[in-house]
Amino acid sequence: MGEKKIQGKKKLWGGRFSQGTNELVEKFSASEHYDRRLYSQDIKGSEAHARMLARCGIISQEDVKDIHKGLDKIKQEIDEGRFDWKPELEDVHMNIEKALTDLIGPAGGRLHTARSRNDQVATDLRLYVREQIIVVDRLLAGLQGAFIHQATQYTDVVMPGFTHLQKAQPILWSHHMLAYFQMFKRDRLRLRDCLGRVNICPLGSAALAGTGFKIDRYMTARELDFDDISANSLDAVSDRDFAIEFVFVLSVIMMHLSRLSEEMVLWASSEFSFVDLPDAFCTGSSIMPQKKNPDVPELVRGKTGRVYGHLLALLTLMKGLPLAYNRDLQEDKEALFDALDTTTSCVNIMKFLVANLKPRKDRLEADTRTGFLTATDLADYLVKKGIPFRQAHEIVGKAVATCISSGRELTDLSLVELKGLHPAIDDDVFQVLDVKGSVNSRNCPGGTALSAVKIQLDEADKWLEDFQLT
Ligand code: ARG
Repeated sequence: MGEKKIQGKKKLWGGRFSQGTNELVEKFSASEHYDRRLYSQDIKGSEAHARMLARCGIISQEDVKDIHKGLDKIKQEIDEGRFDWKPELEDVHMNIEKALTDLIGPAGGRLHTARSRNDQVATDLRLYVREQIIVVDRLLAGLQGAFIHQATQYTDVVMPGFTHLQKAQPILWSHHMLAYFQMFKRDRLRLRDCLGRVNICPLGSAALAGTGFKIDRYMTARELDFDDISANSLDAVSDRDFAIEFVFVLSVIMMHLSRLSEEMVLWASSEFSFVDLPDAFCTGSSIMPQKKNPDVPELVRGKTGRVYGHLLALLTLMKGLPLAYNRDLQEDKEALFDALDTTTSCVNIMKFLVANLKPRKDRLEADTRTGFLTATDLADYLVKKGIPFRQAHEIVGKAVATCISSGRELTDLSLVELKGLHPAIDDDVFQVLDVKGSVNSRNCPGGTALSAVKIQLDEADKWLEDFQLT
């Protein structure tokens, strides 16, 4: 046998290899250009691991000191953009470990005792998602604040409420705004729930089977502020449920933002003319001088599909994986990062849009006076006079048909005409047909009456003040 020629650069794991890695493979498998985003979590995890190893007598105190010093220096270099990232070192973990060994010598080589990149990357990603849950939560709190601002500012604005995008019943603008508050409240509760499952420490699971070194997993977990340690090493290194769950929550947030965007696009149209979108949030057309386009909500609506795509990518990534770690898992990060970046930018911009939204009070109010929005009120009125609801529904339906054929609204009918519908109708019917009267009659908890909306608003305000993720 002739001498084996080693091409390419020597790897940290290269002991059993007689050939260097093919350059194409090196490029193909490298992830450092995106997983470098995890550097501070990686360093934090390594420092905790090193302290634990020393406490357990597996490495010396001297080693830990050197490791800390080295890692601090590396962190500073990365922070300041001076770190020399090397794609041939594959990923963030190897880049940092190699730099550490170059800096401090053999102590750097001892850091990876009782650890594998498999439990390392799972730990880093959990630490990262934990931090980002807090970021997203803060952004959502800001957005909720914008809805509270809207609801507080415009309590006197009535508008048509819709079902099937057909005018249904009059409601308060504040009520509509607070509907979105509730959606984002649930999203924040979902984030909190997700955090509980994210905050579990996989370190110590090593490659897949755990380690024979007498390590203290609880100490590492404590040092890193995890709530608990993972119970099964095989599961711990191959579980990405927490990432999927996080991207699912992001997807639901995007779904809510997209519904809001859809309403903004409709409302800003000349057909609706319900709102004035701030000029700063719209763009013009390069050809049609009259245009003011709602690009921001349109883009948010469009980006929703992109985040859903990442969720589906992650679910699909996992569906065929045998236990335990598989390199496929490296594909989790770009999906997660992009879902996160997209969602945070959308929440942020929609917060400003909502905060600066101007309802067109006169337009909204005028629009409640057409389209028979108080037809249900008239039916309810008849019910209160002893007529069974089904019969009342039929009577009012006929009245609406009469109005449609004569181009009138219910309020245009005379008392004589109304009495003709049913003798029980009296002149107290007119306050029932009045839009504001209709709104204020719906005073059950959660209803649109001003009194009920004020209670809702107070509760929302208090919730926003009190809510904490942990
Ligand atoms: N870059 C890898 C990932 O993101 C780290 C773990 C690699 N482990 C391995 N055995 N090749 O999943």
